[in-house]
Amino acid sequence: MLGIIGGTGLTQLANLEITHRQVARTPYGEPSGALTFGRICGQDVIFLARHGYGHTIPPHEVNYRANLWALKDHGVDRVVSVATVGGIHPQLIPGTLVIPNQIIDYTHGRAATYFVENGKPVTHQDFTFPYCSAMRTALLQAAASAGISLHDGGVYGVAQGPRLETAAEINRMERDGADMVGMTGMPEAYLARELALCYATVGAVVNYAAGRGLSADGIQMEEIQPVLGEVMLQVRHLLEQLVTNDAAGLCGF
Ligand code: HPA
Repeated sequence: MLGIIGGTGLTQLANLEITHRQVARTPYGEPSGALTFGRICGQDVIFLARHGYGHTIPPHEVNYRANLWALKDHGVDRVVSVATVGGIHPQLIPGTLVIPNQIIDYTHGRAATYFVENGKPVTHQDFTFPYCSAMRTALLQAAASAGISLHDGGVYGVAQGPRLETAAEINRMERDGADMVGMTGMPEAYLARELALCYATVGAVVNYAAGRGLSADGIQMEEIQPVLGEVMLQVRHLLEQLVTNDAAGLCGF
């Protein structure tokens, strides 16, 4: 079953016919909110709002382990995560959707592995390619079928937040090779790998990163809102097309 993790601007899915909600408990505590079970275009999905349904949990306090564990525990085997990002690469202007293919992790102090039990052998998981290629391809195909323009690939630099970056930090990230910056991509992607979930991210660019483009003199928060509304409409269409293709056996999972 498909799991959808919604971020800022996507605390609920208008196109989801909700069947029920369920509070989930995990060995790692409680997820960000109850799991929302429902159907999109007749296909069963589970939705979870990463920051809670009232958008009250900041990126560094999200219980990423509980979120992914709960989804897996309830039958999810593939996950689309939606995340807002700031654009660093000149093509990643506000309003663009992007399917990143790489990650640089600048976060710290987050619970970033399930392998914590004392006495168990240390496990090193391959993470060369952090996203599931089947899910990336399915998202790209869904965008093509629905006529949604999508940027294929890019390096997602994951900042600690909750503050936004300085212009110098964005310059450093660009030198490192980051094309976009967000706050929630890690450890989510890695925990999904540890749980063998097929996981990919839809990045929604909602602002120029600090010091870039219209954010040259600072990020204007009030300019983000209209872009967020517009871009999340596209995300909903994309998800509808993804499940439609999935039902038609086009996704190759
Ligand atoms: N920086 C970090 N996270 C973000 C941004 C940004 O500019 N925009 C949306 N999420």
